[in-house]
Amino acid sequence: MNYGHMGGYRSRRRKRQKMIKTIVLSLIVVAIIVLSTVFLISLRNRSERVEDTVQTTDTSSLPPDTDPADTAPGVLGEGFITKSFAGEELNRGDLILVRAGAPYVFPDDIELKDLYTGRKKYDNGARAYQISTTDLYLEESVLEKLNGLAEEFYEATGERGLLVKSAYRSYESQKELYDYRVERDGEEEAAKYVAKPSESEHHTALAFDMSVYKDGVNTYIQDEEEYLWIYENAHKYGFVLRYPEEKTEITGIAYEAWHFRYVGVPHAYYMYTEGLVLEEYLELLMTNYLYNESHLKIDCDDGNSYEIYYVTADDYGNAEIILPTGFEYSVSGDNIGGYVVTVKIS
Ligand code: DAL
Ligand code: ZN
Repeated sequence: MNYGHMGGYRSRRRKRQKMIKTIVLSLIVVAIIVLSTVFLISLRNRSERVEDTVQTTDTSSLPPDTDPADTAPGVLGEGFITKSFAGEELNRGDLILVRAGAPYVFPDDIELKDLYTGRKKYDNGARAYQISTTDLYLEESVLEKLNGLAEEFYEATGERGLLVKSAYRSYESQKELYDYRVERDGEEEAAKYVAKPSESEHHTALAFDMSVYKDGVNTYIQDEEEYLWIYENAHKYGFVLRYPEEKTEITGIAYEAWHFRYVGVPHAYYMYTEGLVLEEYLELLMTNYLYNESHLKIDCDDGNSYEIYYVTADDYGNAEIILPTGFEYSVSGDNIGGYVVTVKIS
């Protein structure tokens, strides 16, 4: 066997294999160097981007006279002032929530107007609605809205059987009613229809109970076809049916076809069209419509438009409220945690 020939062939093959190995190793080294460089560069870019982000969100980089409200949406962008609201104002206004767990904070005195003398008398001697006693009172502006609603209804239908049976109630009168109902029906049944004293909307003079008195009989609005108009139009005067049938889990009160609550026109319009009760509406405002976030725009069917936003109070009910300049606005506490600002924009 000629091993000499085989030996030369092997040595050439070894040389070639060595050369290939060297080339492959060099390629691997070059690849590692290239990849490491790319990785290091990307790391540096990323840390630069993080630094950029930190710089733009750091308020210390804002000019010292820049208020965060400058960036607020809607009417506030057109100029604003700041006003301090103190604790007790949290418990006042058209949007206060009064219910189990959210008691009314009684004021030292409350201005009331009686329905007996406050109703319009037509030339024919008629009144637009009846009252069950001369001892019925509401806040004057709320009484005017009730008059407007009842008068439009009377003029539209010729019916004047609307009957207001209850309006403002003091702590004592609610206690008397509650105790009577507990005695008669037991606590659980009574609590479905009658709030505990201090937890009733009737204390606020913003709520009343209205039914129908027709042909010598007391009935409910829901049972009288001509009177259903009231349910469809009450929101135009700022009223909501406060305890609807499908919301008893939320309100904690059984369906009351008679209990109306004044909340103000844009709010009643929105609650009516969206099917929300006051608990849900306030929750929506405090969650989605904070003053420095987006505002709720409400276009009412009377052609007026409003912008609504919410300002959270501190634990004592105090808040610095940012208000627009050059627009008509009102502020209402919600009795639970903040303030609702209602701005008329057109
Ligand atoms: N009927 C309502 C719940 C009240 O007593 O206030
Ligand atoms: Zn009531």
